[in-house]
Amino acid sequence: MEVVITKNREAASVIAADIIEAVVLTTPHAVLGVATGSTPVETYRELGRRVHAGRLSLAATSAFMLDEYVGLAAHHAQAYRRVIDEIFVRLVDIDPSRVHGPDGMAADLDLACTAYEDAICAAGGVDVQLLGVGTDGHIGFNEPSSSLASRTRIKTLTARTRQDNARFFGGDLDAVPTHCLTQGVGTILEAKSVVLLATGQEKSEAVRQMVEGPISARWPATALQLHPAVTVVLDEPAASRLDHIDYYRDTYANRLLRSPRAR
Ligand code: F6R
Repeated sequence: MEVVITKNREAASVIAADIIEAVVLTTPHAVLGVATGSTPVETYRELGRRVHAGRLSLAATSAFMLDEYVGLAAHHAQAYRRVIDEIFVRLVDIDPSRVHGPDGMAADLDLACTAYEDAICAAGGVDVQLLGVGTDGHIGFNEPSSSLASRTRIKTLTARTRQDNARFFGGDLDAVPTHCLTQGVGTILEAKSVVLLATGQEKSEAVRQMVEGPISARWPATALQLHPAVTVVLDEPAASRLDHIDYYRDTYANRLLRSPRAR
């Protein structure tokens, strides 16, 4: 796991965009794994700026979302498919028909989950997965106690996640769905490379557990310790509870190999 500590959220977002750009430049048909939420918004803007500057094209890529709420119609402003259109797709040159998410409105949700796993597999798997982390340590919507081998499935959101996300629903906790479909931890671990972005003090405990804690379903993000090519990009507040902060800074400043496999 490579840990990169940046001076602020903007700098962290640029590094995440750099990593995604590097994958697309070597693999124009890359399969991108995209997250919703607040954290990746600036990274998507940065990618959009690069596309508009003519330095990058996502035209040949495809994308798979991590998760979707159950029961929010596609036109709902907080349906993740609509959110990803708003924060990512409309800013870049990706073909919207090649952006996929689990169907949280399906009559048969289990079948929708299996179909989603099959679609990721048929696309050849995710080349680079962008992740955020929840304050309770979730990745995707794999809440604490999720199996670290889990696949795409229905999950019940924790009270904490629903409270955290109430800000997107005008502060109305009752409006936040109780269930979602999410790629499993096992699904996420199959991405060829992962960049996890975390900013803000409220993420510092989840970050500490993810990077330095024991691997445990209590903090599902700790499963990323098992992945051979993860870069964790942080701002100072998110990194503030790490024990080995000087080592991470030193390692990054003096890195010899830039391949993600060297982490
Ligand atoms: C979103 C997702 C979640 C978020 C996490 C952090 O698709 O899968 O894991 O990344 O809840 O959300 P923000 O970025 O809003 O703090």
